[in-house]
Amino acid sequence: MSLDLFAEQDLQQPARVERIGDQAYVLRGFALPALTQLLAALDGVLRQSPLRQMQTPGGFTMSARLSSCGDLGWASDRDGYRYSPVDPLSAQPWPALPAAFLTLARTAAEAAGFNGFVPDACLINSYAPGAKMSLHQDKNERSFTAPIVSISLGLPATFQFGGFQRSAPTQRISLFHGDIVVWGGVDRLRYHGVLPIKPGHHSLLGEQRINITLRQAG
Ligand code: SIN
Ligand code: FE2
Repeated sequence: MSLDLFAEQDLQQPARVERIGDQAYVLRGFALPALTQLLAALDGVLRQSPLRQMQTPGGFTMSARLSSCGDLGWASDRDGYRYSPVDPLSAQPWPALPAAFLTLARTAAEAAGFNGFVPDACLINSYAPGAKMSLHQDKNERSFTAPIVSISLGLPATFQFGGFQRSAPTQRISLFHGDIVVWGGVDRLRYHGVLPIKPGHHSLLGEQRINITLRQAG
């Protein structure tokens, strides 16, 4: 089977849903039908607010490169982690949240049982081979009633989905181009992370994995 035929088949098949918690799901291939619009929108956002490496409050440099869009984006430096309405690189507001991101996030949230998801913050992480994200909780958002919607593109990753303490055992879940993970409700504050990305080349995104997370932060 040629690669093109395979891609077309992906578009036509309903997304496969895997449950990884009481209110947490992997929606396999869910982003694929919207891929063209998604990549064009991503390009526009990153031209306005380029990916950059950020410092942690502890003085480390994060291995993933980061940007944001929406009313609120992520700022991290020696002073701490916070959502900010302004891109610290340009001192301008972050790019607007593209309609393609908003629509996909809302439908993915609905498919996972969360209606009325209206994200106001979107973080974009680019992982080169070797980059990772240590176990953490997403807890800087004002309220935890809304889920996190996390879109994976490009190179595959091993996602760790843990418990409510860092030391709790984790599930290891392979995430591929087009998969979306949604976690909320009772699972909203689970620790999660990404193991170091393995070397590879993706036909559309090259030597990187892109992760786009949409949140209701403000
Ligand atoms: C994150 O936790 O913000 C990113 C998760 C991922 O890259 O899959
Ligand atoms: Fe996170």
